[in-house]
Amino acid sequence: VVSVPGVWRRHGARLRRSLEGAGLRVSRVLVPDGERSKNVRELAKLWNAFLAAGADRQSAVVALGGGVVGDLSGFAAATFLRGLAFVQVPTTLLAMVDASVGGKVAIDLPQGKNLAGAFHQPRLVWIDTELLRSLPVRQRAAGLSEIVKTAAIRDAGFFERLEGSVERVLHLDPEAVLPAIERACAIKAEFVVRDERETSGERMLLNFGHTLAHALETLLGYRRLLHGEAVAIGQVFAARRSEGLGLAPAGTADRLERLLARAGLPTALPDFPRRAYLDALRVDKKRRGDHLRFVVLREIGRAETVPLTFEEILPRAVRRASRGGRWSE
Ligand SMILES: NC(=O)c1ccc[n+]([C@@H]2O[C@H](COP(=O)([O-])OP(=O)(O)OC[C@H]3O[C@@H](n4cnc5c(N)ncnc54)[C@H](O)[C@@H]3O)[C@@H](O)[C@H]2O)c1
Ligand SMILES: [Zn+2]
Repeated sequence: VVSVPGVWRRHGARLRRSLEGAGLRVSRVLVPDGERSKNVRELAKLWNAFLAAGADRQSAVVALGGGVVGDLSGFAAATFLRGLAFVQVPTTLLAMVDASVGGKVAIDLPQGKNLAGAFHQPRLVWIDTELLRSLPVRQRAAGLSEIVKTAAIRDAGFFERLEGSVERVLHLDPEAVLPAIERACAIKAEFVVRDERETSGERMLLNFGHTLAHALETLLGYRRLLHGEAVAIGQVFAARRSEGLGLAPAGTADRLERLLARAGLPTALPDFPRRAYLDALRVDKKRRGDHLRFVVLREIGRAETVPLTFEEILPRAVRRASRGGRWSE
């Protein structure tokens, strides 16, 4: 079982009891908390820990934690003895609906996030929403941002249900949170199944809101904003551009913004010079020359990609892409 100290302290004993109760021998390996653990050194430490624990092809790696633990230990599982069985027990809302679905596992390199990794599907993902009680509300909201994203791109009815329940999802009312997690996982899985190795581009709609989010994360050096928060800002921005390009009906972005704001998520574009946004957009992995395939909304529940130039994504004329946000030259 791979975990981080804080999560193991709260939830480790219960997992150990449950596994040992099933007749399994358990070894625990802890990695330091935070994105910075997704590196080669921690990966090598996991391989060594697996050796020390006597892991063989009958062993399974169980990730107990958020997306960081899942990505790192999943990559260790994918590579140790050319692949050990992998089980995810996600403990953040983001990991439940996003990181544990799709089989992508990775570490970061100094040059960028998730640059070394593999596709390694888990044998099992065990989602227990009681684990979320100890998760700070800000982290819950960050996961909710990705849930709203799946609704916005794929399912207007789900979006409406979220409009009727967002506060209850955030406060973990089982009748609200369980169906939300279930539907978000199903939508992500549906895209993944059609494009498991990310070759045909069908998985790209899941990137809704992410072009600007990645630019923001670059600008902020991955501090200040959680990923889900950057994605909330990016979704509202992308919805406003969709309206601006005449692709989505007026009011689409406002509706999305209202829902995200009720989750306590930021929606306004931080005030960087337009030039800084353009520079940050240009490092996007999805870039093709001076174009990006940008995910737009056609309406709530329906998305598509359109090739846009950087100038079209950030037109000079749009001073106010998001309420309260603007850019200066
Ligand atoms: N593989 C994928 O498809 C995929 C998809 C999305 C994100 N990711 C990756 O996931 C990572 C982000 O995941 P995350 O948001 O879960 O971050 P995280 O794993 O860093 O967890 C966030 C924080 O919450 C704490 N925490 C976790 N569970 C808790 C609990 N139950 N109670 C209290 N505290 C708890 C963690 O210790 C950490 O401090 C990034 O590295 C990202 O690249 C991967
Ligand atoms: Zn994301």
